[in-house]
Amino acid sequence: MVDSKITLNESERFQKDFSLDKAKLVHAVEVAANKLEARYNEHGTGIPYSSTENFKYHDFGINKDWTAGLYSGCFWLAYELTNNDFFKKAALAQLETFKERFDTKTAMDDHDVGFVFSPSAVAAYKLTGDEKARKLALDAAEYFYTHSYSKEGKFIIRSWKTWDKGTGCRTMMDSLMNAPLLFWATKETGDSKYAEAAIDHVKTTNKLLIRSDASSCHHYQFDPKTAAPVGQVTWQGNRDESCWSRGHSWGVYGFPIAYTYAKEALDFIPDLHRDITYYMLNHLPEDLIPYWDYDFISGDEPRDSSAAAIAVCGMNEMVKALPDSAEQKKLFANASAMMLDSLIDNYANDIGIEYEGLLHHVTHAKPQGRGIDQCAAYGDYFYLEALLRFIKPDFKMYW
Ligand code: GLY
Repeated sequence: MVDSKITLNESERFQKDFSLDKAKLVHAVEVAANKLEARYNEHGTGIPYSSTENFKYHDFGINKDWTAGLYSGCFWLAYELTNNDFFKKAALAQLETFKERFDTKTAMDDHDVGFVFSPSAVAAYKLTGDEKARKLALDAAEYFYTHSYSKEGKFIIRSWKTWDKGTGCRTMMDSLMNAPLLFWATKETGDSKYAEAAIDHVKTTNKLLIRSDASSCHHYQFDPKTAAPVGQVTWQGNRDESCWSRGHSWGVYGFPIAYTYAKEALDFIPDLHRDITYYMLNHLPEDLIPYWDYDFISGDEPRDSSAAAIAVCGMNEMVKALPDSAEQKKLFANASAMMLDSLIDNYANDIGIEYEGLLHHVTHAKPQGRGIDQCAAYGDYFYLEALLRFIKPDFKMYW
């Protein structure tokens, strides 16, 4: 938990009004939509591994990856951005593979069920009213609640299957983005148990993973035998004590989503979000796109542009919820637009036709040596969501 208010170092930079050029946004959508159309024509309903290899998506097998929902969600976002039914049909066709995944319980017993079903099934229901999609999303939420939430620990668990092997008995920043499926299930059904679990998880994340200086740690470890709290550890970050930039962005977006669902119970979020976002802005290089870990603010280490795209969405969502009197409101409106502008200019549009993904210079898992300086489904998804947020300000999120 943060212990005292964080100061934004370069506040003058973000005080100046900044608006994105409309023609630039339109061109960015065109570039992205063309790539997605070509990708669907080549791969159809296949869902690939999270990140690219040599800039190409691969392993288009059964729907089993944690990023499947984000991969398919790109087609819903493209549908909203272009009104082209091609993308709606593509996303609906892919949805069949999510039903199959649920029915066969493929990779369902972990913390990522929200990532899988919010941008796919919940999105399908929100955009088309499809009752089968609603049922699938609610079934997934019930399964997730039953299998991946620890009532005793009040957190979404990494995996009961591997609890006794150590790595399973953890919770992590990422799951702030899995909690929305639970919030949504309460909103749809009126059954409060889902939202109560999500609220508890959000509070636990603030208590165990947010540090006093407003940085975050990726994972929190519990004792595999006694379930007693052990301490902060990393998985995808540079060190246990460092701040992994994408994990931090899961907080920059995940906390505002939780706030939109439970303002009273989570009334600490505006201040917490201000502090963690100031931490992020204080650790960006000149072009505002994070390195893969905030240990680095200059030099040759790879960037993780997806951390910027996720943060743009999070700041934009928080701006909508803040009163005009909030000091961070204007700063976040400008900072999010400036970051998206940098993504479009330097990390997406017209750069390297060989890139099958939409957003370049994403780092998937540096310590594990996977997807370094590549593209990834979550980079594509949050880049498109960021574009949609600026093109259609009344956009209703899929989370
Ligand atoms: N495991 C979630 C992520 O890579 O962001």
